[in-house]
Amino acid sequence: MSSKIILGTAKFGISGYGFSSGNHYSSTHELLQKAKELGVDTLDTSPRYGDAEKQIGDYHKCNPNSFKVCSKVDGLMPNDVHSERNIFRSVEKTITLSCVSQIEILYLHQNELDIISDHNILEALVKIKESGIVKKVGTSVYSPGECEFSLNSDVYDVIQAPISILDTYMYSKLIEMNRNKNEIIARSVFLQGTLFNREDIRNKIKQAEPMLEYLDQVDCLVKKYGSNLLSLACSFVLTLPHVTNFIVGTASLQNLVRIVGAAGVNIPGELFVEVKALSNQYKEWGNPRNW
Ligand SMILES: NC(=O)c1ccc[n+]([C@@H]2O[C@H](COP(=O)([O-])OP(=O)(O)OC[C@H]3O[C@@H](n4cnc5c(N)ncnc54)[C@H](OP(=O)(O)O)[C@@H]3O)[C@@H](O)[C@H]2O)c1
Repeated sequence: MSSKIILGTAKFGISGYGFSSGNHYSSTHELLQKAKELGVDTLDTSPRYGDAEKQIGDYHKCNPNSFKVCSKVDGLMPNDVHSERNIFRSVEKTITLSCVSQIEILYLHQNELDIISDHNILEALVKIKESGIVKKVGTSVYSPGECEFSLNSDVYDVIQAPISILDTYMYSKLIEMNRNKNEIIARSVFLQGTLFNREDIRNKIKQAEPMLEYLDQVDCLVKKYGSNLLSLACSFVLTLPHVTNFIVGTASLQNLVRIVGAAGVNIPGELFVEVKALSNQYKEWGNPRNW
């Protein structure tokens, strides 16, 4: 059965990305091999992630059609008559590098409203879907305004948004009550790994105090219901009715196995309700760009 987990590949090309567990880094080949065995059949990548697309392609050369590839297009400008050409060129390059015949989801890597609402870009996205080289198109949002626009647009099929035990603000304010047909993909499920790394929060994040206070509350709930943080983080997002899949980033084989196991655990209903009430509130530290 196909997993609801999408493997993020930012770390394939940017080894210093996020907050690591400190576990041994596996090779891309080992990770992809294990992901496939575990039923993870979709990858999230981007031309912005160093040579990640090429690394996926190197794997596909020996193991064709192993993964659906979701990628992004970057460097677009508002009111640019060349947007269509630039989008097609970018997608053709991604297809060649990652050795697939079609992109599963093409996201705009730029989240700003003047990009995601630009008429040249929207028209180009419709055309690229019609061409068949892209199956679905989407946005990757950071703010309620971007999320709302994407939900109301007829063009976007998919919205990638920060949704986690730390943050369901946008989900509760907009997604939950919208009778949309969009696929909703949760990202930042471990908030770049900070969820498991309190020392780094203390040392590297300016809003450490409220963040650690929040995590203490989550720890208490985990203890109260005899759960564990990883199972809660993974199964919470999958319990949200509008979330179709979630993206996680890891460069560790051991963590990948643990994440897949954790996503299959059912959390108690009362725990879900209590965490949802906490995560609904807006938190300035919920967006890594504010750290
Ligand atoms: N569209 C966008 O704008 C956008 C933005 C950000 C990210 N993304 C996508 O989302 C993916 C994930 O990025 P994210 O920022 O959302 O990160 P995340 O998945 O919230 O967290 C990833 C971090 O968690 C750590 N981790 C995983 N399992 C762990 C465990 N069991 N114990 C301790 N640490 C653990 C990983 O370290 P280890 O490697 O050591 O496991 C990694 O550094 C990216 O690869 C990318 O594909 C997209």
